[in-house]
Amino acid sequence: MRFISNAFIFSLSILLMLSSTIYSQQKEYENHIKSATFVSEKFEIGPGNVVSKALMEIEFPKGHIGVKSFDVDLIDEEGNSIPLYETYLHHWFVINFINKNVSHDHNAHTNPYEDAIFKRNDGTCNGGILPQYWGLGSESRGTSSKIPDPFAVEVGNPKAIPQGWEEKWLFSIMVIGTRGTENRKTCSECRCDQFNLPENYFNVTVDINGKPLSPDYKGGIFCCHDNFQCKLRKGFEAPRRNLALRYKVTWVDWDEQQIPARFYILDSTDRVKTIGSQIIHDCQSEYTIPENNGDDPFHVQKANIPMDKGGYLIYGTAHMHSGVVNASLYGQVKF
Ligand SMILES: *[C@@H]1O[C@H](CO)[C@@H](O)[C@H](O)[C@H]1NC(C)=O
Ligand SMILES: *[C@@H]1O[C@H](CO)[C@@H](O)[C@H](O)[C@H]1NC(C)=O
Ligand SMILES: *[C@@H]1O[C@H](CO)[C@@H](O)[C@H](O)[C@H]1NC(C)=O
Repeated sequence: MRFISNAFIFSLSILLMLSSTIYSQQKEYENHIKSATFVSEKFEIGPGNVVSKALMEIEFPKGHIGVKSFDVDLIDEEGNSIPLYETYLHHWFVINFINKNVSHDHNAHTNPYEDAIFKRNDGTCNGGILPQYWGLGSESRGTSSKIPDPFAVEVGNPKAIPQGWEEKWLFSIMVIGTRGTENRKTCSECRCDQFNLPENYFNVTVDINGKPLSPDYKGGIFCCHDNFQCKLRKGFEAPRRNLALRYKVTWVDWDEQQIPARFYILDSTDRVKTIGSQIIHDCQSEYTIPENNGDDPFHVQKANIPMDKGGYLIYGTAHMHSGVVNASLYGQVKF
């Protein structure tokens, strides 16, 4: 991947869908595509504000289905699309989990998600890093997410959901209000010195590896916590407003004509290590671009990611923040 060198930080995951079966026969593929448009719960955002939160239990088509596309837009209360120069959509991730049927459980915990089990995608990142299924950011507006027939993302298979549990979905979002900011770009890339960090923030905050945040950390998700405030131009005032995500899902009923495609999110910051035959992944999900890149105006971030499970590439796209020129994916077969 290439980044303009003085662009800041971030983010560089590649969303792939692979299928282990290739569609070889010319089957009659005639299935009725259904579609629904949903609006998420609202969230309030003021100039320079960060909203970083999970919107739990979003509406999602019911039943055993094959999802064909998932498109997201950021809208105001009248349903108008919000331009990115007013509100930057840093990321939206759609995350899959199962939860005990709480309405059924009379001994329900005070935290209704205490038993929730999150199901990450099939990609190679370690732990809970980049766990999403669909998910991109401001760059996804207008990009088709439709996967070709006869492939689809299988969800809601009752056999995959234990009795008494339900399959659920959530949005993990980060949205940054950039109206009236001193520097829109450094706000939208979460540069630490632009935000009202709490006292001793670096002493009490841990990074993605659970280590104290390094004083060299110049910006990124750890300086963009919910409700942080980016510096505004002197005297700028504008009302807070309610925004929401509008998302359109298309799907088909699941039957033997669909071929399942799975998500593999790869991270170009993955510091892959091998110990013997064991592959250890160490995804950072963001990094700081070196300030001085010599005469080369481009900075290239690369990872070589071994995959133990192969498949056919059905769809691919890259999550890219402002400043990125392009992203490339190469396959290499290892014998
Ligand atoms: C969850 O419990 C409610 C109330 O008992 C019931 O109506 C509903 O069908 C249950 N859902 C599932 C998926 O078991
Ligand atoms: C916070 O960390 C810095 C160095 O990282 C150190 O100089 C300072 O004493 C620490 N402050 C507190 C209150 O621990
Ligand atoms: C990506 O962008 C760089 C810089 O403009 C260019 O040199 C390179 O050829 C591009 N790569 C692809 C695959 O388009």
